[in-house]
Amino acid sequence: MPKPFYITTPIYYVNARPHLGHAFTTIVADVACRFHAMRQTETFFLTGTDEHGDKVVRAAKEENLSPRTYVNKISKLFKNLWPDLSIKYDHFIRTTDKSHIAVVEQILQKIYDQGDIYFSEYEGLYCFGCERFYLERELVNSKCPDHETIPELIKESNYFFKMSSYQDWLIDHIKDNPGFIRPERYKNEVLSFLKEPLEDLCISRPKTRLKWGITLPFDNNYVTYVWFDALLNYISALGYPDGELFKNFWPSAQHLIAKDILKPHGIYWPIMLKAAGIPVYKHLNVHGYWNVDQSKMSKSIGNVVEPLQLTNIYGLDAFRFFLMREMVFGLDSSFSEEALIQRINADLANDLGNLFSRVLAMVHKYFSGVVPKIDAVVEQELQPGLEPDAIKAIADFEEAMESFAFHQALRTVWEFIGRMNKYIDITAPWVLAKKKSSIKQLEVVIYNLLEGLRVISGLIFPIMPDTAATMQKHLGMDPQKPFYYLDALKSWKTIAPGTNLPKSITLFPRIDLKKENLSSNKLSESRHGIPAIKPEISIDTFNKIDLRVATVIQAEALPRAKKLLKLEVDLGEKRTLVAGISAHYTPEELVGKQVIVAANLKPAKIMGILSNGMLLAAIDDFGCAVATMDKKVKPGTQLS
Ligand code: ME8
Ligand code: MG
Repeated sequence: MPKPFYITTPIYYVNARPHLGHAFTTIVADVACRFHAMRQTETFFLTGTDEHGDKVVRAAKEENLSPRTYVNKISKLFKNLWPDLSIKYDHFIRTTDKSHIAVVEQILQKIYDQGDIYFSEYEGLYCFGCERFYLERELVNSKCPDHETIPELIKESNYFFKMSSYQDWLIDHIKDNPGFIRPERYKNEVLSFLKEPLEDLCISRPKTRLKWGITLPFDNNYVTYVWFDALLNYISALGYPDGELFKNFWPSAQHLIAKDILKPHGIYWPIMLKAAGIPVYKHLNVHGYWNVDQSKMSKSIGNVVEPLQLTNIYGLDAFRFFLMREMVFGLDSSFSEEALIQRINADLANDLGNLFSRVLAMVHKYFSGVVPKIDAVVEQELQPGLEPDAIKAIADFEEAMESFAFHQALRTVWEFIGRMNKYIDITAPWVLAKKKSSIKQLEVVIYNLLEGLRVISGLIFPIMPDTAATMQKHLGMDPQKPFYYLDALKSWKTIAPGTNLPKSITLFPRIDLKKENLSSNKLSESRHGIPAIKPEISIDTFNKIDLRVATVIQAEALPRAKKLLKLEVDLGEKRTLVAGISAHYTPEELVGKQVIVAANLKPAKIMGILSNGMLLAAIDDFGCAVATMDKKVKPGTQLS
């Protein structure tokens, strides 16, 4: 049995809605978990929310809510988003969970009792955004490198954790365990930081300044510093100290973070574990940033990209594929919708999609949709088939996935796709089909191609689970059997000759890369906060927009796009529209409602359906409201 696999994402602050950056890390964890499932490894995937601290109190105040009500609300946004991105976590932890709080108290008391925590006065530069003190040398132009704000000078009495006494131990540990922090560049960054003497960590905040936190078990006047609280989620979630999950999974723990939180994870956390007498984690996997317009995406900068808006337009699997293929794990990447569309068209619609429909079309054309049997002698004559390349692709894929080189793993799969396309060109099935004498050869070629597709469907499973399942179905494989197990993938000739295959489908429709099709405008409108009023227009320009009252006749959810509804409306004539509101309205709620539609907008294809008009709705941080009339009017009436 392979060793269990335990993976964690950061627990996200609830001071903002989830964005592309959070989605990326959580999708990576999901992909890694699914990859280990391919090996039939026992896996545990933890994510959650970080709910204490000053940042959260401020955000709650902005919304006029109590911290408790506010954290419940935002935590739910994260929790509800993950299933919509095909993310299957095992546990969602919140730092306000009672069981978590108990573990934090227990560890604090233990470290305090053994003399690793002391009380002292401190004066330092404090960044409220990061909720930590900064050293002069860590600042860039006297500003916090993350928030680009000038930290405040703060003086107060607090509790300190003696990190300094563990500095030498940590340096040795990092040097003795090569993959402890990976990729290498981040290991070096931590080591270079450790060249300077390590300061002790301030682990308390006086209640006079902050009440929203876990009270120190040994001093009622203080709450725990949010990082000391948050990091412990990784063990409290497993039921530390006695839980079965802890015993089973902790020894193989791997954390996943972006470089913004390297220091707490690469320095504080291993030292906290060491001080508490708990074995340290196995690997810290660090990725770079998704940048938009050259800067890191973040709420404070105001350039966030919303994952669901993209998946609604481009499809979930395509979105997951793009993120995993585009970013070199460890380095920064820049996000743009144009790049996403290019990848969809080139890699998915063209390479994978065309190969898939081409092969299946041939099975239908030459063999009436039945998987051909193969003649051993002819097969021998036609060596090499695709098997050696498939086996090599699987091995290379496995190696790359193991080391979090996802882009490399996918590149390997796409090289194999290229090899299959070449195989078609060389064997020229359309020529073989012309003569009766070469039918046996045609059978071998087509069978090889089907097997090649089977291998591809398994390899893309961790990244594009829905597409993998669709391919599997079209290849006539038993949906009950996990086709993606690596052992099964490696055994060539799995598809049974004689199986009837369903008609081919388009896996990924091509997307027209025209400016007006981009959702960038919409993306910027939904950025957090109230957008600026758009530039002035004349009444003539306004009058060009034909707004009509429409009655909803029918509404249905689109199976492949979880947030979209397809509506049939009557606006004097019948129209079909697609609207991204199914997270907020059930089809039943909409039928009979009178809505407002921009009726002369150029029709646009959304998930393969022509949407002929746009429904007006308002979207804020917590939901969406459709514009309606306050009295019944005749369908088709124009608004002016
Ligand atoms: O730091 N590119 O929470 P957080 C890539 N609560 N990843 C990004 C990203 C971007 N532009 N922006 C955010 C916290 N992320 C603490 C963590 S853990 C014990 C406590 C992802 O909400 C990335 O994983 O600020 C990053 O490390 C994390 O979100 C930070 O989330
Ligand atoms: Mg952050």
